[in-house]
Amino acid sequence: MNIAIFASGQGSNFSAIVKTFEKTKTNGKIVLLVCDNPQARVIRKAERSGIKTAVIPRNDFSSKRDFEKKITQNLNNSKISLIILAGFMRLLSPEFVKLYAGRIINIHPSLLPAFKGEHGIQDAFDYGAKVTGVTVHFVDEKMDHGPIILQGIVEIKENDTLESLEAKIHKLEHKLYPRAIKLFLEGKLKISGRKTRIAIQ
Ligand code: GRF
Repeated sequence: MNIAIFASGQGSNFSAIVKTFEKTKTNGKIVLLVCDNPQARVIRKAERSGIKTAVIPRNDFSSKRDFEKKITQNLNNSKISLIILAGFMRLLSPEFVKLYAGRIINIHPSLLPAFKGEHGIQDAFDYGAKVTGVTVHFVDEKMDHGPIILQGIVEIKENDTLESLEAKIHKLEHKLYPRAIKLFLEGKLKISGRKTRIAIQ
């Protein structure tokens, strides 16, 4: 199964996933990076790993529809069956999500549904939460929303700073995300009971 990773920035999750896939035998292959930011560090990381990159800046297109059309063309060319969002800073349209229904996964640095949005780590920290964490979930048409695959907890201790919390969150992300993708590839994720509940088999 061919996999595309969508990212806009640093790419630490990209690297963690690629590294895990190099070590582990799965039926998935990361073949494409889709990046909307020409300055993103993740582009160099993909180059170093020999992964094909499609740099598609939103500003090159007059509409979101055309932007996503270009993305879809790239996905079709690489015969992509699974999309992994790893710090991709754009909300995909309902039409795009429908096209890949049940085949788009996202990671968010909080325990959803708490602290959605761009600053999930900082918002939990500033709120004074005692615990926060990481959520891997299927993507639906809403932001940071959809059936949850895995969650992991991170405690916010008295002596934590925003930086130390970020480091703990990222460390957990790098373990949790490859694990969730593997579960998907092994066909172990089943929607059960209420429509939003994922059972791991
Ligand atoms: C991660 O914290 C992820 O949860 C969020 O964006 C960040 C991306 O970090 N969606 P990186 O680019 O993978 O280092």
